[in-house]
Amino acid sequence: MKVFTTTSELKEFLKSGRIAAMKEGKELQVGLVPTMGYLHEGHASLLRKARAQNDLVVLSIFVNPIQFGPNEDLDRYPRDAERDLALAEHEGVDAVFMPSVEEMYPQPIKTKVAVEELTSKLCGASRPGHFDGVTTVVSKLFHIVAPNRAYFGQKDAQQVAVVAQMVKDLNFDLEIIPCPIVRENDGLALSSRNVYLSAEERQAALILSRSLKQLEADVYGGKEVTVLEARQQLTQKIESEPLAEIDYVEIAAFPSLTALQLTNSFNSELEVFGAILVAVAVKFGTTRLIDNVLLTGKGEAIHV
Ligand code: PAF
Repeated sequence: MKVFTTTSELKEFLKSGRIAAMKEGKELQVGLVPTMGYLHEGHASLLRKARAQNDLVVLSIFVNPIQFGPNEDLDRYPRDAERDLALAEHEGVDAVFMPSVEEMYPQPIKTKVAVEELTSKLCGASRPGHFDGVTTVVSKLFHIVAPNRAYFGQKDAQQVAVVAQMVKDLNFDLEIIPCPIVRENDGLALSSRNVYLSAEERQAALILSRSLKQLEADVYGGKEVTVLEARQQLTQKIESEPLAEIDYVEIAAFPSLTALQLTNSFNSELEVFGAILVAVAVKFGTTRLIDNVLLTGKGEAIHV
């Protein structure tokens, strides 16, 4: 496994790989897994999928300052390069790209990539500018690596929708592969930020997966609720946990994030849209967690 800290060295490595493949009459298939490090089993699942579908797997580890707001956790974002590299090696990664902030942003950035509409709701409403930071750094990574496929966790469902929209709008020549949420045995969705939770907060946070799972079971079980009722029930369940402070509880079509008719039955909206995202963002102490469930009409995989 090679580790690169500069764009030029990584590009050189990819170029020689592509030339070697071409000489054998093949096109090198490159998979990119963009991350901010502090890797966990969720990231490992992305790497495994990338490994299975590509000749060469690139993992990027970069805590991207421009996607953090002024009062967010950029400075305390957890980092452990040694452990990340061991996990990457174990998952058969070919190249790790770990640039410094100066390497990625050698001069104050004057160009940003911004996706409209999809970024004004859910996390975009409470984290202004966040998605512009994501789409800008992801565009840079796509230009540097030129992957055939890029892998994103469905836990950040809005990020998947936003990046997929950007790829379509800007003709990036690659496929976005959304990968399922990975959970602890007790249901907690894996996140690098789980490390911030106290034991009591971690226990309280289980309300998210439990209440989302309940809604999923209700809908798939054919229970007739309107979209509004579903949202109210979910909100009440989360509010029943004293340590939970709700940022949002939202239900929207996926991946368009179009608002649903609140007074229509959940199931009829599911038939119209094919896939519905039920997403929550909730604070436990100082830690803001997100979780979601994606309901599909026929229980099929989602293509973005
Ligand atoms: O999901 C993340 O870890 C980040 O938002 C990403 C996609 C690596 C961009 O910095």
